[in-house]
Amino acid sequence: MVTTEGTPNTTLNSWGIADFNLATYLADYKTKVEATLDASLVIAEPPTVYESMRYSLLAGGKRLRPILCLATCELLGGTVEMAMPTACALEMIHTMSLIHDDLPAMDNDDYRRGKLTNHKVYGDDIAILAGDGLLSYAFEFIARQTQAVAPQKVLAVIAHLGRAVGAEGLVGGQVVDLQSEGKPDVTLETLEFIHTHKTGALLEACVVCGAILAGATDTECNRLSKFAQNIGLAFQIIDDILDITATPEELGKTAGKDVAAQKATYPSLLGLDASKQRADALIAEAIAQLEPWGEQAIPLKALAHFITARKN
Ligand code: IPE
Ligand code: IPE
Ligand code: MG
Ligand code: MG
Ligand code: MG
Repeated sequence: MVTTEGTPNTTLNSWGIADFNLATYLADYKTKVEATLDASLVIAEPPTVYESMRYSLLAGGKRLRPILCLATCELLGGTVEMAMPTACALEMIHTMSLIHDDLPAMDNDDYRRGKLTNHKVYGDDIAILAGDGLLSYAFEFIARQTQAVAPQKVLAVIAHLGRAVGAEGLVGGQVVDLQSEGKPDVTLETLEFIHTHKTGALLEACVVCGAILAGATDTECNRLSKFAQNIGLAFQIIDDILDITATPEELGKTAGKDVAAQKATYPSLLGLDASKQRADALIAEAIAQLEPWGEQAIPLKALAHFITARKN
């Protein structure tokens, strides 16, 4: 039982921190996000591309990125409604990155989220275009659907997200990831660049965009950005570890593919134990950034712990 400032069972956000339970929180927010995602994308002409977009967008997944955005917005006094369009856009962009990451020209994977990959069902051509469709629709969705937030804040969110997904972020990280395949001499510095860009930048944007929508100050945004950079790197280190230690059934995607593709990963450079220690240390550093918010940050702290405890 968590209490606040001598006021037991005070509800500090829409979920209620007083008796916080991460499993219930994740399930509740996942349901809300999936309902909005489902309604966001109606099949139109030409149906093939819409079906392909929906196939991957509604294939499950942890929905961690939208949940981080919603949780951060609420931490700073905003509402779920204010952040929901951005939260869903983050999942659209993440899904685009997975569709493209799985293509034969990139990681060449056959399974994703427990199903055949998009290109295995729709072909490479439609999979590329479905990714493009999701990426552009994400920005349209934020611009058109965000309510009760000042236009300058919406603009700031679009600018922050655009940078996080472009060549300065996710795209740049994916390029260096591919260029590093099969190279025996990848340094820890290059590997950290890959991970902080291909995965960390979007996770950072989830948190910072949630903060911007809620009207956070620059100091608050900077603190939350550090929190998110740490969890972002930890997230990809754990992804590398799970690629070795988890089963395909647990992952919903092929296991052991990083070794097979001679990818530069944390376990390949540091070993499994040191990689886990590094991820744990990053999560501890992340949580330290939340100190000023006390018990109100319990959901974000629990989400940070979930990143290292997860099994898929
Ligand atoms: C997988 O992301 C891709 C990485 C950035 C490592 P997730 O592990 O969040 O995948 P889903 O969304 O739950 O399927
Ligand atoms: C994926 O990294 C990063 C992005 C999709 C941007 P990985 O290639 O390790 O992700 P998985 O293991 O295929 O999910
Ligand atoms: Mg990849
Ligand atoms: Mg991959
Ligand atoms: Mg991986």
